[in-house]
Amino acid sequence: MNTHDFSDFQRYLAAKVSVDDRSLNKDVWNSLFRALHPWRERPLRVLDVGAGIGTMAQRLWRWRLHPHILYTGVDLSSENIDHAQAQLQEWARGRGGSVLRTANGFVLRTSTQQMTISLIQEDALSFVRRPEQQGAWDLLIAHAFLDLVDIAAVLPQLLATLKQGGFCYLTLNFDGVTIFEPVAEPSFETKLIALYHQSMDQRLIEGRLSGDSRAGRHLFAHLNAAGVDVMAAGASDWVVIPQKDGYPEDEAYFLHFIVHTVFQELVDHPQLDRDQVVAWTQERHAQIDAGTLVYIAHQLDYLGRK
Ligand SMILES: C[S@@+](CC[C@H](N)C(=O)[O-])C[C@H]1O[C@@H](n2cnc3c(N)ncnc32)[C@H](O)[C@@H]1O
Repeated sequence: MNTHDFSDFQRYLAAKVSVDDRSLNKDVWNSLFRALHPWRERPLRVLDVGAGIGTMAQRLWRWRLHPHILYTGVDLSSENIDHAQAQLQEWARGRGGSVLRTANGFVLRTSTQQMTISLIQEDALSFVRRPEQQGAWDLLIAHAFLDLVDIAAVLPQLLATLKQGGFCYLTLNFDGVTIFEPVAEPSFETKLIALYHQSMDQRLIEGRLSGDSRAGRHLFAHLNAAGVDVMAAGASDWVVIPQKDGYPEDEAYFLHFIVHTVFQELVDHPQLDRDQVVAWTQERHAQIDAGTLVYIAHQLDYLGRK
């Protein structure tokens, strides 16, 4: 087996950027862009929950969502926030504008765009319950986050942070399809993938069931129940395929990380043979090294208005 470290979460999140850029549903993005047009005259307050290393802040800037953004990213992990603080400031210094340090981050300003980035290490679920966060935000972002939580319990608390008329942009919600190609043993592959999805459904955080392997399709009903007007929705499948000279950017690492995650989740599973899981994992890592693995995960994006 390849002996590299396949569990560097911050490198995984950085490697995920090019995959996500391709995957995000552009109709849903364009709907958000258009919906915000009347809001361009004043700063846009954006809250990103489960922000990781802050890659969505960079994307909002790169894709020019709004000329003046006040962005706050909240993440539970101090490693993510420390990485974001250091890496985002370095990125900002390369934008050709001014970068001014603040208590929780910095302000990046060019002649056409301005963004204040604040990064907070905290449980997003406590953050959104603070009295000062109620009705305080124009746009709520949860990117590759909602399928990790108990959506029915958490969504109303997240939405409570929005002003009336504010928007929620809820993206990359996993929706029950994982494909690795080529498949050597169809019956084993089917069982492995089914147990992998089951592990998402059975995930417990602080004793509560957290996670839904079909979060994408269920989110529509959750949004309706929460009184949100769903303005747009569409598929945002991850599709990672090799090019002539291998995978683009750092996407080989992205794939190694995913395969390693499946391995960790299932290697000791009572319904699977350990040796078979190890052999499957070795074969998948080898296929990534050889540039022959195709990986697809079905996901959905939503835009809603409170
Ligand atoms: C799959 S990652 C996505 C990160 C980021 N949105 C991205 O796509 O690059 C999920 C993130 O949610 C964070 N997270 C999980 N539970 C959280 C919670 N209760 N409060 C805040 N962050 C949380 C994790 O630390 C992780 O960074």
